[in-house]
Formats: sequence, structure tokens, C-alpha cells
Amino acid sequence: MRKEVFEVRRMTAADLTPEFMECLESLGPTEDVRSDVGLAAIRETFRRQLRAGWETIVALSPNGKIVGTASYFVKHCYHYHGARVCLVEDVAVHNACQRRGVGACLVKFIEAEARRLTCRSIAGRSRAGAVEFYRKLGFRIGGPGGGFQKEL
Ligand SMILES: CC(C)(COP(=O)(O)OP(=O)(O)OC[C@H]1O[C@@H](n2cnc3c(N)ncnc32)[C@H](O)[C@@H]1OP(=O)(O)O)[C@@H](O)C(=O)NCCC(=O)NCCS
Repeated sequence: MRKEVFEVRRMTAADLTPEFMECLESLGPTEDVRSDVGLAAIRETFRRQLRAGWETIVALSPNGKIVGTASYFVKHCYHYHGARVCLVEDVAVHNACQRRGVGACLVKFIEAEARRLTCRSIAGRSRAGAVEFYRKLGFRIGGPGGGFQKEL
């Protein structure tokens, strides 16, 4: 499949569109993502995420359509004597746009942010089907929970 470079930026409330929800649907039928739950519930979740300090980002196709999203959180970690680490969650690429480089652009954006914020590590929990994706991006895969991790 052809690889492209996708613009990635922080998400705003204006991005809470049906196409954003379609990206989340690739994560599977969770309570918040079911289309009958609707955008109002997603908007509330987005607000709560922001309040809690989580950043959400979106990837855009050349015509400005949202084709993927991911969230991350920077925290101070006991394991690193209080240094920062970055946690990654909800990496989701629209079903019709997978294997074109969108996911890689999202994770590389977060990794660049984590480096900018002098994080010591970037980590998350991978689904069984996505392990190879994280491995290809240079993450170490380990532990029974499917964790992925990279020292920065
Ligand atoms: C997993 C996911 C985020 C990957 O995003 P993507 O845009 O399809 O992946 P990319 O095109 O950026 O792939 C980057 C590399 O990983 C590989 N890759 C991607 N998904 C893969 C998979 N499921 N299995 C094996 N390799 C995979 C690609 O082939 C590519 O390798 P290459 O550089 O050697 O060509 C996306 O498929 C998705 O949203 N899946 C459903 C939700 C999900 O599982 N999210 C992960 C939550 S932990």
C-alpha cells in the first residue's frame, strides 16, 4: 500500500465530527463509540479528557478529512525518580485508511512531543492485532498485557 505523510495536529472541539467517530469505531464497539450513543457523549468524554490532562490529536488527509486519532498523557513516574513518561492510548485509524501510514504519523507525532517534553519513556498497551505495528515503530513489546515501550 502507498505510504503518505499526513498532517497531525491537536484536536479541538470543532473536530468532534461524524468522521472522527468513524475513526474511533475502528477500536471496536465500545459504549462511547456506538453510533446510537452519539456525538454528545463523545463531546463530554473529550472535555473530561482535556480536564484530566490528556491530549487528543487527529491526522488529516490532504483534503482535510479526519482519518485517524490518538491520545496521550505526560506524567511523572516513580520508576524514573520523578522524570516524565508519556502514555499512549486510543490510536485509531479509519477502517478505510489503514496501512497508508496514518498510524505511524500519529505515533511519531506523540513521540516527538514526548522528546520535546524530555520524557524518559513512551509506552502503552497494544491490542493483539497491533503488536507488529508498534514493533515496526521501534517499540519493545513485553509483558502479558501486550505492553509496548520505548526509552527516549
Ligand atoms: C493499528 C493501527 C493503528 C495501525 O495504523 P495504520 O495507519 O494502519 O498503520 P501504518 O500504515 O502507519 O503502518 C506502519 C507500519 O506498521 C505495519 N502495520 C500496521 N498495522 C499492522 C498490523 N495490524 N499488523 C502488522 N503490521 C502492521 C504497516 O505495514 C507498516 O509497516 P511498513 O512501514 O513496514 O510498511 C490501525 O490499523 C488501527 O487503527 N487499527 C484498529 C484499532 C487498533 O487496533 N488500534 C491500536 C490500539 S492499541
